[in-house]
Amino acid sequence: MKLFLDSSKVEEVERWLPVISGVTTNPAILKREGGDIKELAAIINPLPISVEACGDFLTDAQYYAGMIPNVVVKVPLLTTSGGSNIDVIYELINKGIEINCTALMSLSQVIIATQLGVRYVSVFAGRIDDEGGDYKKVISDCVDFLDDDETTELIVGSVRTVGNVLDSFRAKAHIVTITPPILEKMIKHENSLRTVREFEEAHKQLSK
Ligand code: E4P
Repeated sequence: MKLFLDSSKVEEVERWLPVISGVTTNPAILKREGGDIKELAAIINPLPISVEACGDFLTDAQYYAGMIPNVVVKVPLLTTSGGSNIDVIYELINKGIEINCTALMSLSQVIIATQLGVRYVSVFAGRIDDEGGDYKKVISDCVDFLDDDETTELIVGSVRTVGNVLDSFRAKAHIVTITPPILEKMIKHENSLRTVREFEEAHKQLSK
């Protein structure tokens, strides 16, 4: 399972670079954390950075694709008016633009998005869980569905806890995109800390 960083902070991308295989952003993250997309893309290059198209999806997606060589454009399957972006995604893929179909909550949406040949489908575990949905089942069903698909990988997003990450691994998700505070929690362990302190103390007492 690969890890992506769900952040637009330059210092966090630099910090976690050794353990991540890509970066994901969205407009809410950019609003909250700031960050310059071109700068972030240059740091992570040649690995992918997902940037979300908004407003006029077709124009916005082509803008990012023309500006950033390693961009994967996030396009939601649904529009704000409840229509679908199927035609937009189809056209962008025909133009050679890689798509991360985002804000997905169900296997049925993943089945549709995958027919279009998107590079990633992003399933939002935390938001499914928020409403009492069984995100582990959704992830595991999506993984089964994508089993022999060589085009599309599943990204689990909207990760709120380390438990969400471990559940994603158990469901055999291909990628989990994780915020810096969750990554931080993943490396911490009181017993590890006690152990390294014990060995450091012993080392000090060794006669050289
Ligand atoms: C993933 O690609 C999204 O950027 C993100 O994980 C959404 O998470 P949220 O539910 O915390 O907004």
